[in-house]
Amino acid sequence: MRKVIDGKQIARELIETVTLEVRGFRERHGLAPALAVILVGEDPASDVYVRQKVKQCDVAGIRSVEYRLPKDTDEPMLRQLIHRLNSDKTVHGILVQLPLPAHIDAAAMLDAIDPGKDVDGFHPVNMGRLSSGNEGLTPCTPLGCLMLLDTVIDELRGKHAVVIGKSNIVGKPVAMLLLERECTVTVTHIATRGLPDIVRHADIVVAAAGSPSLVRGDWIKRGAVVIDVGITRVQRADGKTVLVGDCAIEEMAHAAAVTPVPGGVGPMTIACLLANTLKAARMSFHG
Ligand code: GUN
Repeated sequence: MRKVIDGKQIARELIETVTLEVRGFRERHGLAPALAVILVGEDPASDVYVRQKVKQCDVAGIRSVEYRLPKDTDEPMLRQLIHRLNSDKTVHGILVQLPLPAHIDAAAMLDAIDPGKDVDGFHPVNMGRLSSGNEGLTPCTPLGCLMLLDTVIDELRGKHAVVIGKSNIVGKPVAMLLLERECTVTVTHIATRGLPDIVRHADIVVAAAGSPSLVRGDWIKRGAVVIDVGITRVQRADGKTVLVGDCAIEEMAHAAAVTPVPGGVGPMTIACLLANTLKAARMSFHG
């Protein structure tokens, strides 16, 4: 029987663990782990994500500070805020919600964040640590994907994983995490030829293309595990907006396990952000 992985439940359990550990941290250090969230402009999807992040911080006892900046904020202003937060000892995590408006160089802004406070794990130092298998802050969505895989696969070692998408946020870091676990990893992308036949070899599929229902049932090997990272807002014929993943999971009854959209990877991203904020807070005391 195909299993539908309950990301909401697994995220809830992780948040419970983080909440208990945050309580211990507060007792030991006399202050709460704190996350600064920066949102520039009024992208509606980003607004929803930021609100969810702040709400879940509250649930876990993590202090959060929201900075909502107007869409005409320039680079020097944003850099100045980041520098101020870098040197604020009561702030342990800094998150700049992406995408940033087009006139701002996002890579330069991510570079400005102290790597020790980079709870998104997007700073080149953290990307480098991940690539070289060293301890650092790991991007939240990829971390969540690995946690979901660990609930349904005993041993990742030797499995063939196909990652669809090569973004810095998901595709590349998830490939690095799978490599670290000694999977054989194939990373595919927009220019890949013969994608269905590549996916047909996969024991594990991680789809992060942002292309609704790209991955069809007949691409999936019997017994494979499918992790769907895609979340696209699609307007239905009746005018309702729904969230659609990259995988047509209704065609995948022969898979061993699949993640739903919504309720699969999404909740794990926020749970891992809370875990990373606690980790950054601990690092600020113990190096
Ligand atoms: N935009 C989409 N996903 C993410 C994420 O994981 N972190 C940030 N900061 N922005 C995003």
